[in-house]
Amino acid sequence: MTPMILDHPLIQHKISLLRNKNTGSKEFRELVSEVSMLMCYEATRDLPLKEIEVETPVSIAKTKIIAGRKLAFVPILRAGIGMLEGVLSLVPAAKVGHIGLYRDPQTLLPVTYYCKLPSDINEREVIVVDPMLATGGSAVAAIQMLKDSGATSIKFMCIIAAPEGLTALTDAHPDVQVYCAALDEKLNDDKYIVPGLGDCGDRIFGTK
Ligand code: PRP
Ligand code: URA
Repeated sequence: MTPMILDHPLIQHKISLLRNKNTGSKEFRELVSEVSMLMCYEATRDLPLKEIEVETPVSIAKTKIIAGRKLAFVPILRAGIGMLEGVLSLVPAAKVGHIGLYRDPQTLLPVTYYCKLPSDINEREVIVVDPMLATGGSAVAAIQMLKDSGATSIKFMCIIAAPEGLTALTDAHPDVQVYCAALDEKLNDDKYIVPGLGDCGDRIFGTK
């Protein structure tokens, strides 16, 4: 599936603030949350609706509510946690699964350390959230874990993607719709996104 770039002006403005190395952790966290909420609005645009009737104070209204499968959000730890508040503010009834992965600093390959998913994950529309798609290793592995657990309908939402990561992800999981807010230039020798925003987990949680 062709990746969708969600470049609404409000999103672009907030990403410029995220990129700035002088933006502190408190503001950075708030911005990640706001961008995630705006992206979620777009990523849920195709949710199916069904018609219902509601009694207004004036008459009966034929109106619509969301139908079909319920949602689950799955943040990739740690940095994905930063996107959770924003997406849950739009879909508060969604269930949440967690996948713990980190990039080994030497091999740069993803290492799994945690996986806890809703038991009915196979019946849900899953949106995986992780702010950074660099080599794509973490996203590819997380989505494979979801598929191995029975998930059949999966979207992936990141804030900044590198071309290398997008290619790896769409090659490995062509059935997954990918949403990103900015497509950057390249990866550097340490596999960080250029220009990117640095280490997203460290900036959200104030570590390092
Ligand atoms: C970051 C980011 C992604 C991953 C992307 O996590 O949040 O999960 O790197 O890189 P990749 O596309 O090359 O796999 P990191 O491994 O730094 O862990 P953290 O969120 O716990 O800091
Ligand atoms: N993880 C990050 O947090 N930033 C990058 O640029 C790449 C991976």
